[in-house]
Amino acid sequence: MKVVLINGSRREKGCTYTALTEIAKELQKEGIETELFHIGVKAVNGEMNQIVSEVAEAVKSADGLIVGSPVYYASPSGEVMAFLDRLFGVAKDDLMYKPAAAIASARRAGTSTTLDVLNKYFLFNQMPLVSSCYWNMVHGSNPEDVLKDEEGMQTMRTLAKNMVWILKSIEAGKASGIKQPVAEEKVFTNFIR
Ligand SMILES: Cc1cc2nc3c(=O)[nH]c(=O)nc-3n(C[C@H](O)[C@H](O)[C@H](O)COP(=O)(O)O)c2cc1C
Repeated sequence: MKVVLINGSRREKGCTYTALTEIAKELQKEGIETELFHIGVKAVNGEMNQIVSEVAEAVKSADGLIVGSPVYYASPSGEVMAFLDRLFGVAKDDLMYKPAAAIASARRAGTSTTLDVLNKYFLFNQMPLVSSCYWNMVHGSNPEDVLKDEEGMQTMRTLAKNMVWILKSIEAGKASGIKQPVAEEKVFTNFIR
């Protein structure tokens, strides 16, 4: 089983990366393969198509998704938003029904609004949300701060354990004959008379 992790920060090894690494370590302990993509810089330097294609290919064989973003002006980073808009455009069907979670890293505030925005991509696409023992957030301006945020790090580890539990439950369900729902043809009701 494999989980794809997305780092939506421009800083490759910053706070978001530190939180995602804690999750990845816990997933690996349970035998789950992880693949981390750093999309932040590529999203702004003209390599958006390339990174969207790479992740779209990776999610085909993935079982779960975790998207991490720094908080910019109480919202997800512009990079991660632009990336997700594109990814869900091309890989929507490959992501459907796969458990997902968003995590946010902030110096101080704006995490709830950030998580709210990110979670909506999953909710829109029938992806079960994986929860933790608190909101999925860490605090800091640099990785050292995040490592000292013990509650935040525990929240990341618990999120990973819950992801493992959901993934293994889905696998066990499939093995015992429980089928994935068959999506209805989408109805679009535009409010135009
Ligand atoms: C453009 C910009 C806007 C930011 N806005 C906020 C904010 O609204 N609230 C906050 O707590 N931190 C804010 N920060 C700080 C970062 O969210 C925080 O330091 C985060 O942990 C950095 O994660 P990273 O190292 O993965 O990039 C902002 C940082 C930048 C660069």
